[in-house]
Amino acid sequence: HIRAVLFDLDGVVVRTDRFHELGWVRLAEAHGWDFSAELGHRLRGISRLESLDIILGENGLAGVSDADRTAWAEEKNAYYREAVQGIDETDVLPGVLSFIRELRERDIKVALCSASKNAPEVLQLLKITDLFDEVVCGLDITRSKPDPQVFEMAAERLGVPNFHCLVFEDAPSGVEAARRAGMKCVGVGTAEGLPEAPVVIPNYANIDIEALLDSARPFRP
Ligand code: BG6
Ligand code: MG
Repeated sequence: HIRAVLFDLDGVVVRTDRFHELGWVRLAEAHGWDFSAELGHRLRGISRLESLDIILGENGLAGVSDADRTAWAEEKNAYYREAVQGIDETDVLPGVLSFIRELRERDIKVALCSASKNAPEVLQLLKITDLFDEVVCGLDITRSKPDPQVFEMAAERLGVPNFHCLVFEDAPSGVEAARRAGMKCVGVGTAEGLPEAPVVIPNYANIDIEALLDSARPFRP
């Protein structure tokens, strides 16, 4: 059974995933690089610098200087931060806050697990930091998804063994990270976009919490 639920942030709790993508699109446009929707989906959950390196690789620019990489990563972050300043409750995914409250009423531990260094500020802007027992973000980790570090750190801080944890993820890299952590996982999105997720929900409507906590399907070993 499930004793802790770990939520990704961007695209799972708040619709900031589109602002990350917008940041990359603006960066690519400013420098004349190719950027596709497929690439945008692949970059979900991946750290800022690793995302940039993937974009550079796709554009035959793998050998650029570290100074350029740092400047471009900062440029993308400026676009993201510009877009995110205006977020409010309407950017929170419908039903997710009441779902989290219901979990807590059942004594389930809840953690936020994001690769983003901006995660604490996004939570603050929306005044939802206190909803989580633990927040693990890009400032805490050294390895980004698909590495399981962010989820393992949350489980450890909560004092819950990995196999009692359930992860909510919208990113292929995050689904893979949950699998590597030995945690159960629910994809948020479409089965087509998350082919490796054992269970996918389109939104938080009609979730049978009891069934979810009892029988969330584990990954096959
Ligand atoms: C993840 C996003 O949550 O955080 C990625 O899905 C993003 O798109 C990553 O690249 C790192 O975020 P930040 O805010 O530190 O650049
Ligand atoms: Mg995400």
